[in-house]
Amino acid sequence: MYVCLCHAVTDKQIKHAVEDGCCSLREVSQCLNVGKTCGRCVPVAREVISDTLAELGADIARVA
Ligand code: FES
Repeated sequence: MYVCLCHAVTDKQIKHAVEDGCCSLREVSQCLNVGKTCGRCVPVAREVISDTLAELGADIARVA
């Protein structure tokens, strides 16, 4: 689904950015421009980032 309509960014793109090393809204915004225009996408973008980081944490905990 589209999270940021201003820049046509989907939740999958945000998730991939986090998996590739982005750890914050600022870092994702630098990669994908999320939240740089109207800012309406920021709450949902934060949620996607948080959920992805939690998933990655769970994966790391499983491996360790
Ligand atoms: S919807 Fe993301 S900046 Fe406008």
